[in-house]
Amino acid sequence: MASCMVVVIEVLCIFGLVSSQIVTLGTCPQVKVQENFDLNKYLGKWYENRRYANWFSLFSNCVTAEYSKLSETSVKVNNTGWLYLSNEISTAIGNAVVQDGAKLGVRFSEFAPFGAYWVLSTDYTSHSIVWSCEESPKGAIQFNSQYLWILTRSPKGVSETEMDRLFDILHGYGINTDIRKLKPTKQTNCFGRNMKM
Ligand SMILES: *[C@@H]1O[C@H](CO)[C@@H](O)[C@H](O)[C@H]1NC(C)=O
Repeated sequence: MASCMVVVIEVLCIFGLVSSQIVTLGTCPQVKVQENFDLNKYLGKWYENRRYANWFSLFSNCVTAEYSKLSETSVKVNNTGWLYLSNEISTAIGNAVVQDGAKLGVRFSEFAPFGAYWVLSTDYTSHSIVWSCEESPKGAIQFNSQYLWILTRSPKGVSETEMDRLFDILHGYGINTDIRKLKPTKQTNCFGRNMKM
């Protein structure tokens, strides 16, 4: 029985690895989101600085997210990255809606359900911590899958001291920032971008 549990957990972990989440046992951690979230100040371009390792993003660098206003409570999302193995630019266009303060929902097809996009912390001008968590249906084994991105306004990211502060926020909620899980996204020598700079 015990060894069976280990196999189940391993399978879940593998699933987590290929489907862009971190899977852990237990329910989702309780978090606070950014107070007085201001969508207007959040608009514009962000550089993906770190993300939980995931299958899709495994082979992409230079990822940016651009938010442009559609209405007071919704934005167009343009996620663009460079697939360096095939040397192709890949773009996903979607939209995000404010559901409750800094809790947004995002989707990339009008037929898809909205996925959670919670802004845990942003100062609008240098960083944003985006996180979401889903719980498995109540059953024999309770587990949760988490997504995490740190976005920065500058492709160079933020200072080490500032990154430590952001990590402290995450540690306060019990969110994993281990380098093996939360990988830096390369933002140098980007196709057509840094070359011009
Ligand atoms: C999405 O963003 C990329 C990179 O900034 C840009 O080249 C592309 O034109 C944008 N696409 C749309 C549909 O907005």
